[in-house]
Amino acid sequence: MTATVIDGKAFAATVREKVVNHVARLKADHDLTPGLAVVLVGEDPASQVYVRSKGKMTVEVGMNSFEHKLDVDTSEADLLKVIADLNADPTVHGILVQLPLPDHLDSDLVINSIDPAKDVDGFHISNVGLLGTGQKSMVPCTPLGCLMMLRDHHGSISGMNAVVVGRSNIVGKPMAQLLLNDSCTVTIAHSRTQDLPGVVKQADIVVAAVGRAEMIPGDWIKEGATVIDVGINRVDAGLKDDGTPKTRLVGDVHYDSCAAVAGAITPVPGGVGPMTIACLLANTVTACSRAAGLPEPEGLTA
Ligand code: GUN
Repeated sequence: MTATVIDGKAFAATVREKVVNHVARLKADHDLTPGLAVVLVGEDPASQVYVRSKGKMTVEVGMNSFEHKLDVDTSEADLLKVIADLNADPTVHGILVQLPLPDHLDSDLVINSIDPAKDVDGFHISNVGLLGTGQKSMVPCTPLGCLMMLRDHHGSISGMNAVVVGRSNIVGKPMAQLLLNDSCTVTIAHSRTQDLPGVVKQADIVVAAVGRAEMIPGDWIKEGATVIDVGINRVDAGLKDDGTPKTRLVGDVHYDSCAAVAGAITPVPGGVGPMTIACLLANTVTACSRAAGLPEPEGLTA
């Protein structure tokens, strides 16, 4: 079998299009423009790239973008004050504090100081609890993107065997909750799982979110399974013509061998990655609609 390639880049464009349409309606009918505030503490180069890209896409879909860049040695009290001001600001509907934070700041404390209704990352303990009990919540962007792709590909995933490899708070655990809420039979596997190949082999749906380059080979995959690869790992790729080192991005699954067995697979790059920012924009328009007591955007929520 040669797998269908699930094109996350194209799918993310359709999600952004839905966001654009909903934002236009909020503006035209309610004089309301959704606003997303992104808070960056310090100058981590990768975080700077992400934050710039989030700001650019926020504006492209017609929303307001507010960027708060704080010094690396910002005190916890000062950061909490910035968040309290954003919580109180009616033009701000979504707040994202870029992680990781510098070591002297307590990430849990900071995240839990965000108004849960504006927590577009879905990391606040209230949103984690709401998701875990199947109630309306803000849902973490990467797992939401994975769920949208699975629903789009399969129609319904009810009753399917899903194995999530990885147990992080950002991806693995919320992904498992979403799959359970869609009536999958869910296993969370991790580094201590016994017979990991055997566990993965049972899966109709594999979500790989471990952060280890090409860890899952094709012979772990059940014939025809759907493979969602959340990993983004930069690895050596020999030398350029001028003798300098080359790198490339790979996922957590070994693409070629998995694609030979799977029914469908997401590539890296161009699979889950583009869906994450699209879902951040979706969550912002959802948060804005809910705050105004208006109907939620269709097809953009869990
Ligand atoms: N850093 C890397 N990924 C994320 C994310 O999804 N949200 C936040 N806030 N920071 C991140």
